[in-house]
Amino acid sequence: MDGVNNASLPVAGAASFSPTIRPRRIRRTSAIREMVQETRLTSADLIAPLFVKDGNGAPEPVGSMPGVQRLNIEALVAECCELVALGIHGIALFPVTRPELKNPQGSEALNPDCLVLRAVRAIKAAVPQLVIFTDIALDPYTSHGHDGVLTAAGDDVDNDATVAILARMAVLHAQAGTDFVAPSDMMDGRVAALRAALDDAGHPQVGILAYSAKFASAYYGPFREAVGSAAAAGTKLLDKRTYQLNPANRREAIADALLDEAEGADLLMVKPAGPYLDILRELRDASSLPLAAYQVSGEYAQIHAAAERGWLELRKTRDESLLAIRRAGADLILTYFAKAVATDLNRG
Ligand code: PBG
Repeated sequence: MDGVNNASLPVAGAASFSPTIRPRRIRRTSAIREMVQETRLTSADLIAPLFVKDGNGAPEPVGSMPGVQRLNIEALVAECCELVALGIHGIALFPVTRPELKNPQGSEALNPDCLVLRAVRAIKAAVPQLVIFTDIALDPYTSHGHDGVLTAAGDDVDNDATVAILARMAVLHAQAGTDFVAPSDMMDGRVAALRAALDDAGHPQVGILAYSAKFASAYYGPFREAVGSAAAAGTKLLDKRTYQLNPANRREAIADALLDEAEGADLLMVKPAGPYLDILRELRDASSLPLAAYQVSGEYAQIHAAAERGWLELRKTRDESLLAIRRAGADLILTYFAKAVATDLNRG
């Protein structure tokens, strides 16, 4: 064969062909396959991101995220009870701020009676055991849709002025009863500032889930529709590249994430998840902290869109996408599939 002498090698189909090592032995039955399975997905691994809106109107579907709805506080509390019954321990809360409350400073973020804080109080009163993660960033509140306040020139986000606001915001969230604040802003020094502010205000038990390796991603599009930051800014393609990571950069991502650990983060996060499994893997090896991954809105929308066309099988693709994120090194996954997965896991 092509000048190579294979005459002495056994040939498939021939009676003499009998490899000693047969990897397929451990794949032979479903019992054996389950015994050697290295990675599993359980309800306890999942954090459900939820969108809360003001008023008492009916749930509003998010067009680009089938099955996801903006819920009023009452419906949100009911949803939380259902999630707990399904074995989900955590939620990540995102407020849909009314457009008239948005301004360039995002000042609604510091209103002690703002929507997200009312939601936290209501959930804690009804299901105190549910672990609440609240986002710390100004994008639900700013009229320009950026995660912080702008510089005087208006051409960039002002890092230090933003961090000062975020620290006050974190204290308000702690007072309302959040379990973890989750800075998603990617400002420099925010984790240390949040830790100091929380401790000074008497909230040493409130943790920090740092969005540590958060990339400037096109996969956030549907989320920006859901919270209205795209509409506020007049574009879905908000340019956040002066603070979010360049998708091309692996070393920079790890270095930035390790800074969050050094500044006192309790949990680190990689976001998006599926397209960044290499970052998850590497961070898993570089840090001993628990790792979270955010399967973002665009990853969810993609799977749903293909399934709607009959091009992919929804449940299998969903489960494979999540298992891959666990295999790469994530302990926890924020995913809009959380409830559906937990429901299926409970049914068996
Ligand atoms: C912003 C924030 C974003 C998401 C969570 N927090 C979007 C952004 O950076 O514009 C995206 C989540 C998703 O796409 O599901 N602080």
